Amino acid sequence: MVQFTVILSLLLATGKALAFPQYGSLAGLSERELEDILPRLHAVKPPPPPGPLNDTSTKLVNNPAHPFLPQRNGDMRGPCPGLNTLASHGYLPRNGIATPAQIINAVQEGFNMGNDLAVFVTYAAFLVDGNQVTNLLSIGGKSSLTGPDPPKPAIVGGLDTHAVFEGDASMTRGDAFFGDNHSFKENQFDEFIAFSNKFGGGKYNLTVASEFRWQRIQESTATNPNFSFISPRYFTAYAESTFPITFFVDGRNEDGALSLDVARGFFQDSRMPNGFFRANQSIGLDIIGSLIDFIFEPHPIQPGGNQGRVNSYTVDPNSANFSQFCQLYQDFVNNTVKGLYPNPQGVLRDNLNTNLGFFFSPLQGSGCPQVFPFGQ
Ligand code: HEM
Ligand SMILES: *[C@@H]1O[C@H](CO)[C@@H](O)[C@H](O)[C@H]1NC(C)=O
Ligand SMILES: *[C@@H]1O[C@H](CO)[C@@H](O)[C@H](O)[C@H]1NC(C)=O
Ligand SMILES: *[C@@H]1O[C@H](CO)[C@@H](O)[C@H](O)[C@H]1NC(C)=O
Ligand SMILES: *[C@@H]1O[C@H](CO)[C@@H](O)[C@H](O)[C@H]1NC(C)=O
Ligand SMILES: *[C@@H]1O[C@H](CO)[C@@H](O)[C@H](O)[C@H]1NC(C)=O
Ligand SMILES: *[C@@H]1O[C@H](CO)[C@@H](O)[C@H](O)[C@H]1NC(C)=O
Ligand SMILES: *[C@@H]1O[C@H](CO)[C@@H](O)[C@H](O)[C@H]1NC(C)=O
Repeated sequence: MVQFTVILSLLLATGKALAFPQYGSLAGLSERELEDILPRLHAVKPPPPPGPLNDTSTKLVNNPAHPFLPQRNGDMRGPCPGLNTLASHGYLPRNGIATPAQIINAVQEGFNMGNDLAVFVTYAAFLVDGNQVTNLLSIGGKSSLTGPDPPKPAIVGGLDTHAVFEGDASMTRGDAFFGDNHSFKENQFDEFIAFSNKFGGGKYNLTVASEFRWQRIQESTATNPNFSFISPRYFTAYAESTFPITFFVDGRNEDGALSLDVARGFFQDSRMPNGFFRANQSIGLDIIGSLIDFIFEPHPIQPGGNQGRVNSYTVDPNSANFSQFCQLYQDFVNNTVKGLYPNPQGVLRDNLNTNLGFFFSPLQGSGCPQVFPFGQ
C-alpha cells in the first residue's frame, strides 16, 4: 500500500511536470512543484534585449511578407490588441508564444514603438507572466494543460493573468471580476464609438481618449465591487489609452485621429487595414508621458479602488502616481515580482536577476535607483 502510494504520487508528479508548458509562468509555485517542473524545462540564458531600429521612418507594414492570417486552433491571443495583431501578421510567432527579444523586435518593426518603452513594457510583462527559465511568454490564453491537478490560472494565463499586469477598466475588455478579462466586448466598443462620435467628430483622438478613460473608471467604480486601480494598472491604463492614437493611426496621417473601422480591425480582429503604414517616428517613454498628461489633466483621479462594494472608490496613498515614476519601478520589483518569487534559487534566481537588469536598463540615467530584491 505504501509502495503503491509512492508510485502513484510519483506518477501524478510526473504527469503534471510533463504537462507543464514551456511558456508557463513559474510564479507562485511551491518549492515541491518547482523541483518537479524545473528539470523538464529547456533552460536558456536570457540574451540582452535588441537595440533601437536604425531606420525609424514610416513604411508599409501590412505587406506581402506579413499577411493577416486567421487564428488557428491552439494559437494564443490575449488582452493586448497590439500584440494580437503582430501575431496575426507574423511579426510574432503566429501561435502567440514568444521571447522578450521577439516581442521587442515586433513592436519596433511593426508599430515603431520606441526602444525604451518597448524594453520597459516587455520586461514588466515578462517578469510577472513569462517563464524565466525557458525565456518564453504566451501573449494570452490557456494552454491545453491537462494534469491531475486543476491548473492554477496564474500558471497558464500568460498575459491574461489578472492583477500583475492585466487589470481593470480596460477600454474594450471586461474586468476579471465578471469572469473574462481578455475577450473583445461589443458593448464596450459601442461606447468607444459613442464617445468618438460625441467628443471626436467620429474618430478616436486625444480628447476622446481622456473622456473615455474617465468613463471606464467611473463604470468600474459603479459596477465592480473588486475594482482595483493602483500601480502598475494605474499607469498601464492611461498608457494604453494613448496607444490607439500613436500606433493604430497610419503614419502618413497627420491629424492624430483614428477612424472607427480601423479601430475595430485592431481591437476585434487583430488585423491591420490594407496598405497600413506604421507611425512616422519612434514613439517612446517621453512622447507617451506627455500624452498621458493630456489625458489625465481634465479628470485627475488618484490611484485607489473599491472596498468590496460598488461606489466605494478610496484613494490608496501607498500606490505610486504620475509624480512617482521611480516608485512605480521600485514597487513593481519589490512587491509584485518579489511577491511572485519569494525565494528563487539556482537558474530561476539567476535569470530573474538578469531580466530585472534588462527591465531597469531604460531607466539608467533617469535618477531612479536600481533595486535588487534577490541580491546582486
Ligand atoms: C511592448 C510589449 C507589450 C506588452 C507586453 C503589452 C501588454 C498588454 C497587456 C497585458 C494589456 C492588457 C491590459 C488590460 O487592459 O488589462 C495591453 C493592453 C493594450 N495594449 Fe498592449 N502590450 C504591448 C505593446 C503594445 C503595442 C505595441 C500596442 C499598440 C500597437 C499595444 C496596444 C494596447 C492597447 C490599445 C491596449 C488596451 C486594450 C483595451 O483597453 O481594450 N500594446 N497590452
Ligand atoms: C543597425 O546598424 C548597426 C550598425 O550599422 C548594425 O550593427 C545593426 O545590425 C543594425 N540593426 C538592424 C536591426 O538592422
Ligand atoms: C482572466 O482570464 C483568464 C482566462 O479566461 C482566466 O484563466 C483567469 O482566471 C482570469 N482572471 C481572473 C482573476 O478572473
Ligand atoms: C476580489 O478581490 C480579492 C482581493 O483582492 C481577491 O482575492 C478575489 O480573487 C477577487 N475576486 C474576483 C472574482 O476577482
Ligand atoms: C478631437 O476632435 C474634436 C472634434 O473634431 C475636436 O473638437 C478636438 O479638438 C479634437 N481633440 C484634439 C486633441 O485634437
Ligand atoms: C510625423 O507626424 C507628425 C504629426 O502626426 C508631424 O508633426 C511630424 O512632422 C511627422 N514627422 C515626420 C518625420 O514626418
Ligand atoms: C501624487 O500624490 C501626491 C501625494 O501623495 C500629490 O501631492 C501629487 O499631486 C500627486 N501627483 C499627481 C500627478 O497626481
Ligand atoms: C526595495 O527594496 C530594497 C531592498 O531590497 C530597499 O532598499 C528599497 O528601499 C525598497 N524600495 C521601496 C520603494 O520599498
